[in-house]
Amino acid sequence: MTKIEKIVLSYSGGLDTSIILKWLQETYGCEVVTFTADLGQGEELEPARAKAEMSGVKDIRIVDLREEFVSDFVFPMLRANALYEGQYLLGSSIARPLIAKHLVGIAREVGADAVAHGATGKCNDQIRFELAVNALDPSIKVIAPWRQWNIRSRLQLSEYAEKHRIPVPSDKRGEAPFSIDANLLHTSTEGKSLENPAEVAPDHVYQRTVDPVDAPDTPEIITVGFERGDPVSVNGKAMTPAALLTELNGLGGRHGVGRLDLVENRFIGMKSRGIYETPGGTILLAAHRGIESITLDRAAAHLKDEIMPRYAELIYNGFWFAPEREMLQALIDHSQAFVSGEVTLRLYKGSASVISRASPCSLYSADLVTFEESTIAFDHHDAEGFIRLNGLRLRSWAARNGR
Ligand code: ARG
Repeated sequence: MTKIEKIVLSYSGGLDTSIILKWLQETYGCEVVTFTADLGQGEELEPARAKAEMSGVKDIRIVDLREEFVSDFVFPMLRANALYEGQYLLGSSIARPLIAKHLVGIAREVGADAVAHGATGKCNDQIRFELAVNALDPSIKVIAPWRQWNIRSRLQLSEYAEKHRIPVPSDKRGEAPFSIDANLLHTSTEGKSLENPAEVAPDHVYQRTVDPVDAPDTPEIITVGFERGDPVSVNGKAMTPAALLTELNGLGGRHGVGRLDLVENRFIGMKSRGIYETPGGTILLAAHRGIESITLDRAAAHLKDEIMPRYAELIYNGFWFAPEREMLQALIDHSQAFVSGEVTLRLYKGSASVISRASPCSLYSADLVTFEESTIAFDHHDAEGFIRLNGLRLRSWAARNGR
């Protein structure tokens, strides 16, 4: 084993990373610095400090990354209307490069030669962390205890914890918790009974949205303001990126917006089933598409839609800090110069529907599209020639086929 001098660990204070902290200290016999990011997971972070202190950690970093997360990661992704496999809003995928960026930053600051994370050998998150570290500082080594130690299951993990007097958490019902990843964009839940995709997810997996059936019987009308592709206000009130997403999470959660029960294809090769709750993100995707519908040129919009699955897959697979993602981002960002205005949505029993949109930069012309008489010169005869020429090859083709 190569000699490691100092390690920065991505540390949540939960069971896995508490065990990893102990294991790193024992295995490498070196100083471990803990880094805990506040991404709006809605958990107290001070207990993580206390736990790290108890484990003898001297350098404990707890950093509020909420604004950076939303403004530099979530919003750029939202400009692309990114969805993986048509449905997943990438809430976990987009958080990993940010955590990796700060792990690398702290490692450089404290002179650490390695960073460590608690992602397992079967998950996407290990790939995302490590590709980001590779891209940001190839001199930093990555330690992934889940791939090195001989703990092979959650059961063995609990046994190790008991042996080392590390408290094993349970959910509100006293059972072992699901594998949960939460931040300002979403909550993802995997594992336990969810591993059988034929089984309906129990109600208690949902954490930040009500069941649409139990949502209020009266719809709620909200507005979202956009400037150059990014949301900037809710109901006319200007907000910072993190405050805006927090506000929409509250509104969407109350109306049961943004639940998703998905079987997805992991980059590492297997299919997995997860439950996602992305209330604010779901509202923002609908709203952003709403404002783009009047401000983007047709070809620009269609080009964006063509590259979107590719862009989303790059983020899912962990290539945020890769040249091709940056190239696509430049294209997407360029398209957003006139994506400004206001969208009105109706939240009602699980849905977030755009009901009106307006923009000072609108390309929409009622005068042009109207069924009534118009002042704009539009010669209906032009349409005849347009169709005749577009139909030219179809007529040849049909004639050849003997239709
Ligand atoms: N399957 C999702 C993804 O790959 C969520 C992973 C969340 N991680 C977790 N530890 N539950 O993006």
